[in-house]
Amino acid sequence: MANITFSSPVMARDVTVYAVAGDRGTILAVAKSHKIPIPFDCQDGECGSCLVQVEHFNPQAKYAVALTEKEKEVLKQLGKITKDEIQNAEVNDMPPRYRLACQCFVRNEDILVSFEGDKTLP
Ligand code: FES
Repeated sequence: MANITFSSPVMARDVTVYAVAGDRGTILAVAKSHKIPIPFDCQDGECGSCLVQVEHFNPQAKYAVALTEKEKEVLKQLGKITKDEIQNAEVNDMPPRYRLACQCFVRNEDILVSFEGDKTLP
């Protein structure tokens, strides 16, 4: 079980949703099912539209972050991951600050997901 709080300037207020245990969905899938307006396009870890910042409420814990080469590459292109963060992910399983919502699976932990969103949308 996990509480996921979504926060964005495009939303009137933060929204916390409860992701069911065993739900192997991505952050983007959970957001879509709760009508959270995280921008997305390819849904395949290539375009970078779904960039989100993920804060873990227990920063001491280590997590196998499952950062794929593809996600790493896109985050690098966007300038949203540092060399240290890559190393920390690879060596210590520590998650970087930014993730691609379509590539990041929800796990059994509470997180805060922040995104800019598209302010041109109604
Ligand atoms: Fe394109 Fe996630 S929607 S990278």
